Amino acid sequence: IADVKGGPGQGLEWLGKTLSVRGWVRTCRVQRSVTFIEVNDGSCLSNMQCVMSSDAEGYDQVEAGTVATGASVLVDGVIVSSQGSKQKVELKVEKLIMIGSTDPSAYPIQKKRASREFLRTVAHLRPRTNTFGAVARVRNALAYATHKFFQENGFVWISSPIITASDCEGAGEQFCVTTLIPSTREGIECPVNTIPATKDGAIDWSQDFFGKPAFLTVSGQLNAETYASALSDVYTFGPTFRAENSNTSRHLAEFWMIEPELAFADLNDDMACATAYLQYVVKYVLENCKEDMDFFNTWVEKGIIDRLRDVVEKDFVQLTYTDAIEILLKTKRKFEFPVKWGLDLQSEHERFITEDVFAGRPVIIRDYPKEIKAFYMRQNDDEKTVAAMDLLVPRVGELIGGSQREERLEHLERRLEALNLNKDSYWWYLDLRRFGSVPHAGFGLGFERLVQFATGIDNIRDAIPFPRAPGSAEF
Ligand code: 4AD
Ligand code: MG
Repeated sequence: IADVKGGPGQGLEWLGKTLSVRGWVRTCRVQRSVTFIEVNDGSCLSNMQCVMSSDAEGYDQVEAGTVATGASVLVDGVIVSSQGSKQKVELKVEKLIMIGSTDPSAYPIQKKRASREFLRTVAHLRPRTNTFGAVARVRNALAYATHKFFQENGFVWISSPIITASDCEGAGEQFCVTTLIPSTREGIECPVNTIPATKDGAIDWSQDFFGKPAFLTVSGQLNAETYASALSDVYTFGPTFRAENSNTSRHLAEFWMIEPELAFADLNDDMACATAYLQYVVKYVLENCKEDMDFFNTWVEKGIIDRLRDVVEKDFVQLTYTDAIEILLKTKRKFEFPVKWGLDLQSEHERFITEDVFAGRPVIIRDYPKEIKAFYMRQNDDEKTVAAMDLLVPRVGELIGGSQREERLEHLERRLEALNLNKDSYWWYLDLRRFGSVPHAGFGLGFERLVQFATGIDNIRDAIPFPRAPGSAEF
């Protein structure tokens, strides 16, 4: 359907041509002389309006009432011009074959607009709605544009492991890996879906990664750093996991992260890369997902297209953490969380800065106090701050977190000691500083937050096909 309707003539080039459409029925309206069947195949937002008269082959299916919302059909016909105001062309049906019928009274997605909360409970069927079809296509375009950007700029894509023994962020928000033995253990039935239990019913944590502790990765950064120390610029793009039990519209337990790592680079290079990357992918969806973006602009967030154009065309704001704190201290706005140099910025502070102070422009805040940032960030000369940066955008808040890495062995060792981290377990990471260390920097972008930002979808659970968050792992 996208091939036919996506062209400059909106299908007029196809007049008189025969076409075979395979898709799912959105609606079926039986009128006295003809029947209108709207079919969607997911290739685009538009349906193909199929017009069927009673002499067409397969009309008995219409009479039997099986051509209902949700059924899958194959429709052969000829493209003709349409009288309707919504489309230039339609399909004059010659033959309809029912592929998979449906029980209309039981089909969960009815014609009336269902709430997104409800649609989360039918995550296996929600891609058949306009909104989730559009989100899936824009997400796909963002992923494609991500690889395109980095490939065109000479970055090498690296697969970082999902199972790891190290905690990159040092925040202790890791899921533990345990081994499941789907058989009997000491005579106790152990169903496949439960964690191995001992005789007294307690969880047996010794069933871990072949006798050693292991976790799901929170970030591929440390692995990316090793490859950047050999191949120069690299990036990862894969799933990451955080065991933060927070029920917010911006947090998932499983999310995809894009993590470029630049060799021979400092924080300024890092911020320039983040800016160029974000502008590139936003421009890409504006140019290549026009129909879906128009849909979001009308139905999900009015004006989003203009705001995204501004992101592409205007410079981002840059300021230091210290300046940001000053702005927050000066305003008359009352915040729930206290503002004080040394405390982390909360989402209310971040939103105030991007939405109110800088009128919707992306803002990069740099040079954060070292106490609130991870061990690997490079210490600034003031000894109080580190070369870190967060990129904030309206509605979503923190979209990117990055930094220049501490490449000086003694500084890094001192930092690990100060934070009581086990130096021995970072031996390989420290080796990078022992053998041919280079200044390097990188960042992580939360892919679902990017999808939120680009579509206007307000809850992160609607930006990924199957969200993983407290209480949702069913599908
Ligand atoms: O700021 P974070 O924790 O940074 C890192 O993990 C670094 N190792 C990245 C790097 O320098 N290579 O996470 C990076 C981004 C955040 O800015 C946010 O967009 C996203 O990951 N993120 C989440 N997205 C969804 N759900 C969560 N629970 C997230 N936690 C972080
Ligand atoms: Mg962060």
